[in-house]
Amino acid sequence: MLAKEEFILLRDFIYDKTGIHFAENKTYLLESRLTNRLGELGFSTFQDYYYFLKYGGEKVKAELTSLFEVVTTNETFFFRNPPQLDAFKVLLKKNYLNGTIPTQPIRIWSAGCSTGEEPYTLAIIMEEISAVMGKNIPYVIYGTDISLKVLDSAKRAVFNAYSVRGMDDALRKKYFTENNNLHTLKENLKRNIKFDFLNLMDTDAYRRYKQMDMIFCRNVLIYFDEKMKKKVIDHFHESLKLQGYLTIGHAESLHNISRAFKPLVFPGTITYQKG
Ligand SMILES: C[S@@+](CC[C@H](N)C(=O)[O-])C[C@H]1O[C@@H](n2cnc3c(N)ncnc32)[C@H](O)[C@@H]1O
Repeated sequence: MLAKEEFILLRDFIYDKTGIHFAENKTYLLESRLTNRLGELGFSTFQDYYYFLKYGGEKVKAELTSLFEVVTTNETFFFRNPPQLDAFKVLLKKNYLNGTIPTQPIRIWSAGCSTGEEPYTLAIIMEEISAVMGKNIPYVIYGTDISLKVLDSAKRAVFNAYSVRGMDDALRKKYFTENNNLHTLKENLKRNIKFDFLNLMDTDAYRRYKQMDMIFCRNVLIYFDEKMKKKVIDHFHESLKLQGYLTIGHAESLHNISRAFKPLVFPGTITYQKG
């Protein structure tokens, strides 16, 4: 059982490394997520595990990869929250495709992309708009996450029925091949998407992601406390081009977090613009 003192030590350690905040009423959740790690490493108490994380030297690096996997929640699916995607289409057409096709690729960042459904959804939308316009719109989508496991899965791009359940049948058939209830994304959709590890807690990492036209960071901030949310949003502000757009989860808000963005109201959703 995870004693209160152990909970506090591990909670603070996890927060320092990831920004993910486990409130005290989530003690049981943290315990159940860490129990397997203890088993695999052969520790009999959570305190031993904590001392290993803190003072285990070189071996800790590999363990952090596993720790990041167990403390994150990776729920995602294609075409999540359609009103946000409709707003994305409106903004694209209005700002970047205004009669002409941009010469430079539109730069989009899906931060906390999990197994890839979000960046691939955005790519499908770009492809569909390109088809309607009869021209290839240049774009690049960056998908980043703290979990190497979900990034591997994103690159593989084989999805179960749950992931694609919200998709229109015609679109699903166009972009996937189906076999035994598994949906494999067609290779050509991967060409403009780059997946990489990025820990949103790591200030230096943001330097690689600049001059973005749009950032999607949906259903990620919810796991952070206010201090971490402010840090992440300030970095996103720097990573965006002037007047670039930020989309966060529909249940998340920038209220009390940042005044540096202008809220733009769309049917059923709000998108933020760097002002
Ligand atoms: C619930 S999923 C959201 C996926 C997708 N954005 C969506 O809305 O469908 C949250 C993702 O955020 C990632 N995450 C959590 N903390 C992170 C951090 N500090 N840095 C980078 N990614 C993080 C998790 O690994 C997880 O894949």
